[in-house]
Order: sequence, then C-alpha cells, then structure tokens
Amino acid sequence: MAKPKSSPKHVAVIMDGNGRWAEMRGRPRLVGHHAGARRVQEIVKACPDVGVEYLTIFAFSTENWKRTQREVSGLMRLFRKYILKEAKALLQAGVRVRFIGDRIKLDEKLVRMMDDLELLTADNTKLHLTVALNYGGRDEVTRAVQRLAFDVSQNKLKYTDVDAEVLGKYLDTRLLPDPDLVIRTSGEARISNFLLWQSAYSEYEFIDTLWPDFTSEEFKAVVGRFGTRERRFGAVKA
Ligand code: FPP
Repeated sequence: MAKPKSSPKHVAVIMDGNGRWAEMRGRPRLVGHHAGARRVQEIVKACPDVGVEYLTIFAFSTENWKRTQREVSGLMRLFRKYILKEAKALLQAGVRVRFIGDRIKLDEKLVRMMDDLELLTADNTKLHLTVALNYGGRDEVTRAVQRLAFDVSQNKLKYTDVDAEVLGKYLDTRLLPDPDLVIRTSGEARISNFLLWQSAYSEYEFIDTLWPDFTSEEFKAVVGRFGTRERRFGAVKA
C-alpha cells in the first residue's frame, strides 16, 4: 500500500480484546496476550511504510493490577520476554523505544531491562515506539502536578507562569508530539484513562476487530482513512 497523502504522525493504540480472543478459543487469557504481542511486532514493522513516526501502545494500565495474580504476573513475564527477544531487532530496525507510566510498582528487573532498552535504542529515529506500562492518564497528570508543585515550592517556577505548555513539560510524554489518531480495538468505545491530556484534539477510531486479529493490512487501512478527515482544532473551516 502506498503512503497515505496525509499520514498521522503519531498513532496511539489501545490494544483491547486479547482476553476475549483466547476465551473464544477455550484457552487461558495469557494465550491471547501472547498472540497480542505478535501483533505488536507486526504493527511496529508496518508504521514506517505508512508514514507513522510515533507509535504509542497501551500495554498495562494503572487499573490492570486488579486482574488475577496469575494474569498480572504472566503479563509481566511477557513484557520481560518481549524486551529480551526483540531488543536486537528493534535496534536494527531503527526503532527508538521509550516507556511511560509509573515505574515505582514494577519489578526491579523489568525496570532495569526497560532502562537498558531505552539506552540501547536512544540514537534511533525511524520510529518512536512508546510503551505505556503501569500507565494511567490521571496518574500521569497527578505525578506531573506533584513535581511542578515541588518546583514552585523551591522557587524554580512561579505559579503564575504555569500554563498548558509548562504542565506538558512535566508529563511522561514531554518528548512526544500529541497523538493525531487513537485506535481502540475490540468494539469498546472508551478511552480508559489513556493519554487523557494529550488526546484533547486526537481523532478516534473504534474498531470491532479483537487485537490479536488486527493485521497490518487493517492498520494501514485505518491509517489511510485518517487522510480523509478534516481537523479543525476548535477553529472554523478556512
Ligand atoms: C487488553 O485486552 C490488553 C491488555 C491489558 C494487555 C496488552 C498487552 C499486550 C498486547 C501484550 C504485548 C505487549 C507488549 C508491549 C509486548 P484484554 O485482556 O482487556 O481483553 P478483553 O477485554 O477481551 O478481556
């Protein structure tokens, strides 16, 4: 497929439906997450073909700790396995990996692997892949406001200088542009605490396909549709 005329520079994805995909097959939910991880690899590869420069994926939310211990530890094992298995391929493919979310609750070994992968891929520019892990939009804004308030208390910042741009610099996403397009798979039309601040003017696509069935062809078609949308950012048509 040719590059669309106007590609979304930054696509963010809520990868929903892994559990249902597995349950429909009479398999444990973790089998769905493993199938989901294979789709991640495929979609990462597809991004440069369609002009997407930033891909942000919701891998684990601040609410996902409420799942069974078995599912949570299985997901954490999967993240470690993914980093271990994919680091070299990501480096060679020119992908720069970043993680957003609160690392405090994550296992030390996983955090070390995340830090190492960020460092290893820091010079890459072909695709900026951001993995949201223990991430929640409200949690991110809360942590940002805490840091900002601390700087005000230290006289590093005047409270009258705080505006949206300044607050944006305290967010986990400070180095990323806002997402142009947010995709959620599996037929649910909710934001679920994902990039609440950053998606103020994003376009949304709610897709019925379950994440493990979401092929790179379907991804490219969704990205291609973005070119037909008219974005006004609150202004009237020129
Ligand atoms: C939501 O589906 C999915 C998750 C909470 C986990 C997403 C994780 C992956 C796709 C694994 C791979 C990720 C990386 C970065 C390697 P769900 O379990 O809520 O599905 P359901 O709504 O059908 O129950």
